[in-house]
Amino acid sequence: MSDSENLKKIYHPSEEVVARARVKDYDAMYKESVENREAFWAREAEELEWYKKWDKVLDESNKPFYKWFVGGKTNIIHNALDRHLKTATRNKIALIWEGEPGDIKVYSYHALSREVSKFANVLRAMGVQKGEIVTIYMPQIPELIIAMLACAKIGAVHSVVYGGFSVEALAERIEDANSRVLITADGGWRRGKKVVLKKIANEAMKRSPTIEVCITVKRIDVEDCYMETDRDFWWHELMGMPIAGTSADTEVTDAEDPLFILYTSGTTGKPKGVVHTHGGYSVYTMSTFKYVFDIKPEDRWWCAADPGWITGHSYIVYAPLIMGATIMSYEGAPNHPYPNRWWSMVEKYGINILYTSPTAIRGLMRFGSSWVEKHNLSSLRLLGSVGEPINPEAWRWYYEVVGQSRCPIMDTWWQTETGGFMITPLPVTPLKPGSATKPFFGNEIAVVDEAGNEMKPGEEGTLVIRNPWPGMARTILNDPDRYIEKYWKAYEKQGWYLAGDSARVDEDGYFWIIGRIDDVLKVSGYRLGSAEIESALVSHPAVTEAAAIGLPDELRGNAIHAFVILKQKETPSKELKEELMQHVVDEIGPIARPQEIIFVDSLPKTRSGKIMRRVLKAQAMGQDPGDITTLED
Ligand code: WTA
Repeated sequence: MSDSENLKKIYHPSEEVVARARVKDYDAMYKESVENREAFWAREAEELEWYKKWDKVLDESNKPFYKWFVGGKTNIIHNALDRHLKTATRNKIALIWEGEPGDIKVYSYHALSREVSKFANVLRAMGVQKGEIVTIYMPQIPELIIAMLACAKIGAVHSVVYGGFSVEALAERIEDANSRVLITADGGWRRGKKVVLKKIANEAMKRSPTIEVCITVKRIDVEDCYMETDRDFWWHELMGMPIAGTSADTEVTDAEDPLFILYTSGTTGKPKGVVHTHGGYSVYTMSTFKYVFDIKPEDRWWCAADPGWITGHSYIVYAPLIMGATIMSYEGAPNHPYPNRWWSMVEKYGINILYTSPTAIRGLMRFGSSWVEKHNLSSLRLLGSVGEPINPEAWRWYYEVVGQSRCPIMDTWWQTETGGFMITPLPVTPLKPGSATKPFFGNEIAVVDEAGNEMKPGEEGTLVIRNPWPGMARTILNDPDRYIEKYWKAYEKQGWYLAGDSARVDEDGYFWIIGRIDDVLKVSGYRLGSAEIESALVSHPAVTEAAAIGLPDELRGNAIHAFVILKQKETPSKELKEELMQHVVDEIGPIARPQEIIFVDSLPKTRSGKIMRRVLKAQAMGQDPGDITTLED
């Protein structure tokens, strides 16, 4: 087949896939779900147990602050753990975890629930109250999941800060959440090395002094792990004390009570604390997971993301537990010690569904197919992709080599703010490589121009969601105005949600995501703001001003390029460049390290003083910068 024929090829699901699928007729069910949206969501919600049923499915009286399942009493832990203890699921494996050095831990639902109860008791003993925000900063170890679930169980709100973030990123998030309790670890393993976290946590606690209690898991046993008397406690010591017990009551929460805050990058330097709730989030993550990955009791599910991002929250932790699935989790790098690490684990644990990012796929594809082919991957039934557009070449490698042309790829488009999948195939959907295909049930999604007119097939426009859904973010912590401004202002008249992405819809109604329309970068699938990188750079004493842009990168999606104006007395040098790159790593984390730093004398700005990153980007890529009439000079 020629390349262009290849690109047009549609991949139809096999008879076997169709026979097994929960939903056979997407079109009919979709139509039903948008015509009777509230009835659809009420039916889904009825699959969960509620302490008290809701009075109203959707409350639209204070748009855009929608409320779902109003009057309902629940707790996500009741559905994720407690109810399973009443059935045979109690003895099922909830979590298989493998550390990078090869250590293994396995928890049944009963054991996981017991550990969660014990830690819930510890938190209660530390005075943690319902509604209080607890910050969690950990490597990918089971205790991270246990800590999240324990917070939820007592009605506290968790704020997980990705373990790859550094001092300033952590300090800023602790401060915004006004957290009194921090849960961390001495460190974790990455690429055969010990990564120390407690030192970063200590430094962050110096910068944001709200923390009174810090609980640390001993994972790597490091020497320079300073513990302050009366503030610092070891996890294992607390869990070994009588106060931990073996069982704990689950706090009854309102459907609309906050479950967690997750910080994500936006267009300003200050990260946004996106708020999700117990009720709607339970329903939405459960429903999307059930239909899209067609999850069945016998499945072993592996979402190879970090629990510190939304993908991990929704689809490592909550949705799989609600569905009573078996979760696989792995601590370290995909290619350590060799590029077959993932494939050996798929084989060893008999994984049925693998969900990961295009960057990870491209990264492993680089090593060639033989690393995959050595392993028996016949257990795989479905594959998934998330975080950035997947290029057709990587899609086909994933499909043909990893999935042996047997496993449909669920390319799921969604965001921290949406809580769960928004545009996604189902197993029965004919697939086009690179397209996230069609809206999930209940959602009317469109690509429009500035005035809100739908674009013609094939034309690029702005992606909007035209209706509320149960998994939607409720607000931004401490900043409801920003919530309105960022997501609801652009199409205020129509009442549509602005996703911040551009996209195309083709003749068959398939969605093709192009990328962000704001100053948000996707580096290896991780979300970062230009402004965060810029403020890290200007916090260095040699820098006056900085602009950061994302340029297309074959492996990572975006590569960060930064333009820096130095203070007058400073001279550009290779050493200074290296120092600035390291400074960004120290402040934000390794994922934010600029690939290139360019010293300049001035930056293109609008007359009102805003940096025109678009112009820098066009220049760097040798393209026409477009309309520059607002440029200052
Ligand atoms: C991008 C990650 C193309 C998109 C779950 C979105 C995608 C941003 C896809 C949200 C996909 C996510 N195809 N682009 N399948 N999934 N994106 O909040 O730009 O970390 O707006 O959530 O990732 O990133 P976030």
